[in-house]
Amino acid sequence: MITDLKITILCENTVGVPIGVTGEWGSSILLEVPGLTLLFDTGADGALVPNARALGIDLAAVDLVVLSHGHYDHTGGLRAFLQYYQRPIPVVAHPEVFSIRFVDTDTGRRHIGLPFRRQELESLGAAFRFTTDVLELGDGLLVSGEVPRLTEGEGDQRLVVVEGNLAKPDLVLDDLSIYVVTDRGLVIILGCAHAGVINIVEHARALTGVEKVHAIIGGTHLGPINPLQRKYALDYLGSLGLDLLAANHCTELPVMAAMAGIFGERFRFASVGTVFTLPLGS
Ligand SMILES: [Fe+2]
Ligand SMILES: [Fe+2]
Repeated sequence: MITDLKITILCENTVGVPIGVTGEWGSSILLEVPGLTLLFDTGADGALVPNARALGIDLAAVDLVVLSHGHYDHTGGLRAFLQYYQRPIPVVAHPEVFSIRFVDTDTGRRHIGLPFRRQELESLGAAFRFTTDVLELGDGLLVSGEVPRLTEGEGDQRLVVVEGNLAKPDLVLDDLSIYVVTDRGLVIILGCAHAGVINIVEHARALTGVEKVHAIIGGTHLGPINPLQRKYALDYLGSLGLDLLAANHCTELPVMAAMAGIFGERFRFASVGTVFTLPLGS
């Protein structure tokens, strides 16, 4: 069980106050627990290293990188991070993280996959540790592994993966989250929640045996889904008795405004530079 943690938002779409950091569409979250500093995603491009510097965080202290999934907005800062880090580091990811993937938009099909070759990242020090199963990093700290899809239609219908000559709907099976068991209950850190936020929470409960969800932090992906799915998920989140819902990124601003209305003071907008420590939401 974890009784001490610190979570810092290093990359996110927006900057709430002028503190010398850059917003970019994407996510990178630093999790510090006793004995381990974990970097969960790397943002989309160049903001990670300068943002960390501006926030007074030394990325050389990172012990482990976890990639939530293979979209560019969570992995695009990995090369710059490795170039800064200058020594080997384990990188945990699902084996499908390098899939060739696209999104269908009004203006056409756009590549959104991981923008580097595995060999290049390995040459810069990335020691990939691929897993589909849950990975326990310490007592009370887990990487979710592949999340069972139990609900219907939580996914994003616009996503496409290419295998050989075949383009098919992308279920983003590589979507991973971080689960922390604390004395206040579960803290769930989301990347883009492509597995569906309900599925992710229920998976955390099933794996840990802990029912109480203390906090959810990160991208809920409730922005780009249909309104019925969104309402269902918001009702579910409302039923959890959360002490903190700190949404950002693919939650998108209109949904965050709705969340603020539902959760009141238990809602926080997790823009760049936001820091959370236990107990969360108090
Ligand atoms: Fe994504
Ligand atoms: Fe994302």
